[in-house]
Amino acid sequence: MTKTSISILGLSGSTRKGSFNTKLLTAALERAENVGARVTHLDLGSINLPFYDADLEVTSGLPGKVRDLKKQFEEADGLIIATPEYNGFFPGILKNCFDWLTRRTGPEDPILSAFNGKVAGLMSATVGGSGGIRALTSLTSQLHYLGVTVLPRPFSLTHAGKAFSDIQTLPVDSLSALDDMSVALLHALRKSD
Ligand SMILES: Cc1cc2nc3c(=O)[nH]c(=O)nc-3n(C[C@H](O)[C@H](O)[C@H](O)COP(=O)(O)O)c2cc1C
Repeated sequence: MTKTSISILGLSGSTRKGSFNTKLLTAALERAENVGARVTHLDLGSINLPFYDADLEVTSGLPGKVRDLKKQFEEADGLIIATPEYNGFFPGILKNCFDWLTRRTGPEDPILSAFNGKVAGLMSATVGGSGGIRALTSLTSQLHYLGVTVLPRPFSLTHAGKAFSDIQTLPVDSLSALDDMSVALLHALRKSD
């Protein structure tokens, strides 16, 4: 496979130990690496961002961990996000992260610098049969608002407990769907270069 300089940042919207979404993300990033992307798995739980607080921002400025995260986003070409569905929506940990990332470090910092021009591949794993379609819809809407191009046909993994049991890996058709997403993501990013 041809190596490219395209870099992909991967995020899971679950901090749960044993999270199906985090496992799905790990599998997707492996596949993206196989087709030549440079990948970084961002562990949002370990960053432990505070809840967005305008007073905190006014008194202390953007927290150092937000600045670091923002730099990581700015440096990435594309995103792969695996989101659980919580009550028909994508989870608060992602929303809080996005809210912080929209804040500017100063007047020289372009609006939405963390998001503009990015392309994202989305996926969701749920234990039930919904496949997180509402989380994917709300997340797509949020990312569009932030200036991110979202690839069509997000990947849904239904009955995730079953898919990951015993063999600890995904069925072949799911892996091939992840391959397709990686190829589409790299293709879209090369075109936008
Ligand atoms: C607060 C909460 C709300 C949930 N709401 C939904 C939902 O709206 N739709 C759904 O399919 N599953 C829902 N679930 C079940 C999750 O899909 C399931 O817990 C999944 O495994 C979470 O992802 P994770 O394994 O990556 O942590 C909910 C779970 C929690 C904890």
